[in-house]
Amino acid sequence: MKVFAFVGSPRKRGNSDILADAFLEGAAAAGGQVEKFFLADLNINQCKGCFRNCMTKPGMQCAVYRDDMDMLLEKIASADLMLFVSPLYCATYSAIMARFFERCLPLWEVEIVGELGTMDALRFINNPAKGKKAVIALVQDLRDARAGELAFKAYEHNLGSTYMMEIVGRIHVTDVRDIGDIAKKKDRLDEIRALGKKLVTG
Ligand SMILES: Cc1cc2nc3c(=O)[nH]c(=O)nc-3n(C[C@H](O)[C@H](O)[C@H](O)COP(=O)(O)O)c2cc1C
Repeated sequence: MKVFAFVGSPRKRGNSDILADAFLEGAAAAGGQVEKFFLADLNINQCKGCFRNCMTKPGMQCAVYRDDMDMLLEKIASADLMLFVSPLYCATYSAIMARFFERCLPLWEVEIVGELGTMDALRFINNPAKGKKAVIALVQDLRDARAGELAFKAYEHNLGSTYMMEIVGRIHVTDVRDIGDIAKKKDRLDEIRALGKKLVTG
C-alpha cells in the first residue's frame, strides 16, 4: 500500500513535519510503502489561471509548466492513502498548500458540453484521484479548536468535493507554536502513529 504525506509548512522539523513523520511511521510499521513530500522544497509554479487547458486535454499535465507537479500528480494517481498536513495560517491552510491544490486541477479530465459558468458546462471523463483515501491535518497556535474550522472546510471542499477523494481521517493539533512544540505532545503523536497504522491495516 502506497502512503504519501504532503507537508505544507515552510519549516523543516516543524510541527506539521513531525506530525507527518509520526503518521508515516505508523503506516510503515503496518507494511505501508511511505514517502514524504516537503512541498516548500519542490518547484511548484503558481497556477497561471487558464482554467481549461489542463482539464480538457487527456493526461494529467499542466498546459503551461513542466515542474515538480508532474511528479506529484503521478504520486497522487498512484497513492492508496494520503496525508495532507499544514499549519493554520491566517485562518486557513498555508499558501504553500493552496498553491499545490490549485495546481492539482490537471487531475480532472472533462469535456465542455454546455454553457460555461453553469453546472451543465462540463462532462466528467476521468479523475485518477477519485475515491482515494485522504487524511487532512492541521496544526495551530491557538488553543481554541474553532480557529481551524475554515481550514477544515476548505480541505473538505477541495479534496473531498473537488478532487473527489474520500476523507477518512482528520487530525487537529492545537496549542503548538514554535518548531518542534508538537514533540512534547507524546500522546497525540502516539495517536497519530496509531491512525497511520490502522489505516494501512484496514
Ligand atoms: C503567517 C502565519 C500566520 C499564522 N496564523 C495563525 C492563525 O490564524 N491561527 C493560529 O492558531 N496560528 C497561526 N499561526 C501559527 C502556526 O499555525 C503555528 O506556529 C504552527 O504550529 C506552525 O506549524 P509548523 O511548525 O508546521 O510550521 C500562524 C503562523 C504564521 C507564520
